[in-house]
Amino acid sequence: MTGPAKIPIPGELPLLAVPDAVLFPHERLTLELTGEPEKRLVDEALSGDRFLALFRAAASGEAMPRRGTAARIEQMRRGEDGAVRLTLLGVARVDAGPIVRAEPYPVIAASPAPAPSGHDLRIEALRRACHASFGELVLGGPDSEQVEIASRLRTAGHFADFVASRLRLAPDQRRALLETEDVELRLEQLGRFLDREKTIRDLQVRIEERVKTTLGEKERQSFLRQQIETIRGELGEADERETQIREMDRRLTETVLPPTVRQACCEEIVRLSRIPVQSAEFTIGRTHLDWVLELPWTSASADAIDLARARAILDRNHHGLGKIKERVLEFLAVRKLKRDSPPPLLCFVGPPGVGKTSLGLSIAEALRRKTAHLSLGAITDESEIRGHRRTYSGALPGKILQEIRRVGVRNPLFMIDEIDKIGSDFRGDPAASLLEVLDPEENRRFADHYVNLPFDLSEVFFITTANSTDSIPAGLLDRLEIIEFPGYTPEEKVRIAEKHLLPKQLRLHGLTPASLVVRRRAVRRVIDEYAIEAGLRALARPLAAICRKRASALLGGDRGRTAVDEADLPHYLGTSRHYPEIRGRRPEVGVATALAWTPSGGQILFVEATLMPGRQNLQITGHLGEVMRESAEAALSFVRSFLDKKGAPRELLEGHDIHIHVPAGAIAKDGPSAGVAIATALYSIISGYPVLHNVALTGEITLRGHVLPVGGVKQKILGAHRAGIRNVILPLRNLPELDEIPSEVRRRIQVIPVDRVEEIFA
Ligand SMILES: Nc1ncnc2c1ncn2[C@@H]1O[C@H](COP(=O)(O)OP(=O)(O)OP(=O)(O)O)[C@@H](O)[C@H]1O
Ligand SMILES: [Mg+2]
Repeated sequence: MTGPAKIPIPGELPLLAVPDAVLFPHERLTLELTGEPEKRLVDEALSGDRFLALFRAAASGEAMPRRGTAARIEQMRRGEDGAVRLTLLGVARVDAGPIVRAEPYPVIAASPAPAPSGHDLRIEALRRACHASFGELVLGGPDSEQVEIASRLRTAGHFADFVASRLRLAPDQRRALLETEDVELRLEQLGRFLDREKTIRDLQVRIEERVKTTLGEKERQSFLRQQIETIRGELGEADERETQIREMDRRLTETVLPPTVRQACCEEIVRLSRIPVQSAEFTIGRTHLDWVLELPWTSASADAIDLARARAILDRNHHGLGKIKERVLEFLAVRKLKRDSPPPLLCFVGPPGVGKTSLGLSIAEALRRKTAHLSLGAITDESEIRGHRRTYSGALPGKILQEIRRVGVRNPLFMIDEIDKIGSDFRGDPAASLLEVLDPEENRRFADHYVNLPFDLSEVFFITTANSTDSIPAGLLDRLEIIEFPGYTPEEKVRIAEKHLLPKQLRLHGLTPASLVVRRRAVRRVIDEYAIEAGLRALARPLAAICRKRASALLGGDRGRTAVDEADLPHYLGTSRHYPEIRGRRPEVGVATALAWTPSGGQILFVEATLMPGRQNLQITGHLGEVMRESAEAALSFVRSFLDKKGAPRELLEGHDIHIHVPAGAIAKDGPSAGVAIATALYSIISGYPVLHNVALTGEITLRGHVLPVGGVKQKILGAHRAGIRNVILPLRNLPELDEIPSEVRRRIQVIPVDRVEEIFA
């Protein structure tokens, strides 16, 4: 037994097990106890010889440590909270024997640890070496006089424990020293720990030197702190905050950042290192820093500009759309010549399902850019785009930077869908923030409220999509390069179905092209009767249904017919819900066909008029907007005066009420472009001449009978074609727009240009 056990240690000791407690003989330790059995143990020890056995509490699943320390209570104080604070003095190493009593606190049999006698000269040599190292380590520091004290200690064992207790050793190093009773071995161990401490210290000094000369003040601090934390971590001293700060510092050093961002991060880390880790502010700061460090400030994917390859990809995925593909290839060509030419800001406009989103994705593939994606559908809150300020609880960056982080590069192709659906309400104006995202002047320094550091979006290739330009805010519209997707003609749809949609559905259903053939006639019929929408999404559905049926027939052992023809369609798809809208119609009095533009493509509308005996009242129904009602009134006035001039009898003009109705409640009907159709229906009902059913009319009229041009001509004509119309009456001034109509549609539709309404009535 070593140590100054002047009072003999009792053979039975109350056991105090404390996590991580390692106490050397001669060392003092202050502990706080709150458990009832422990307090009772202390009380009873104090009334006796004040001895107890301090052992490290075993971690779960671990056996109780064999060796601990017999200690005396030197001092005890009771806190106001009822906790007991005591100071223990280590007396000697003891080995645990059997448990003598378990309640109310355990008492064990304890015996002094056996001390093998070492080799005196060797022990002395080791002691001197340790003493020298210890001196080197602490000299000049606050612990200098300890060196002197250590030299005066009588035994080598005491010396070893004393030095060990003055060093900042990690818990397991202390444990190893406590468990080694053999003085010679203990000194050897101590020597190794001292050497390690010295190495760490030298390293630290060298780093400091280097840092001082190469880094700026802020960075130097951050770098040094990181090193100190590493060293303290080695010493088992780092607390939770230090661990976290160290981790942040490490990440900051490892991340490539623009100087301003790095500076801001350094400052933030310094700030965090001063606030408690448990505080909400620490967590907020830490989360923010994580976000900032994860944004791709500098990483960008290299543009692979290979025009032939890009063209091949665009052609492979999408049929037609020639003009749009050309525009994209143009950009690539320019970019190839001039590396830093800014990407265009495109806006694809067209009905649903015409390939806006999917073409955008193909462009990304052609450019080898990563794709980010955001739909503005339901966004009314500007913070969804620009984020919340950091102080707002649960704040996050806006969706733009969230996506940028997700893709991990600062130059993705960014699809922003439905920009025409962006709303605004009391939570700010998302359209204005979107402007900051898209505007090449401003997006170089895009300021997300949360991130609060300007992020450069100027390398992002934005492609926006919309069903209509009408509801895109003007400021935004100005900056967009609008590219129209008019929708497809039935012939184009047939080709797309055969080349793209059907093969895709076959793949999705595990079928081979040999196991299912859909005849062209059948495809055509599906397009005409089961999927008349302008887009293609509706077309994929019946094709999928055919594949499903075929797949389950194959599984049922039916190896029979693989071809699907026109006549088989009802079997696969049920009877069709659509049919060309004018089929079954005949020339009628008082009904004219108008053309409407809707966000989902061109459509035909019927304008119905009836006469009832009365006094020239006009009733209008069918949920018409204000502009359309007024245009009906203008049409009626014109028709009346026209007939009057032609000498129509008075009672034909005056002795009745007129009711105009435009059925199809689901279509929003407004705008002046139905004027000509309304006038025609009115002329027909009053004069009694029937209107041809396969003629559709569009055009605004004035009170004097002039026909003014209208918008959406291309869509309207494609819609008329889908509906089976053969003749379209069009304002003369819209004639130049016919160039954009695919020739196969031009061939089937006869366009009759008019300048005055009378030309129709003739
Ligand atoms: N020209 C084309 N060639 C081949 N497939 C096409 C073509 N156009 C569209 N498609 C296919 O039609 C489907 C619908 O297209 P997409 O989702 O891109 O429509 P969208 O225009 O974005 O519609 P929305 O306005 O509803 O978002 C996709 O599966 C796409 O692959
Ligand atoms: Mg889309």
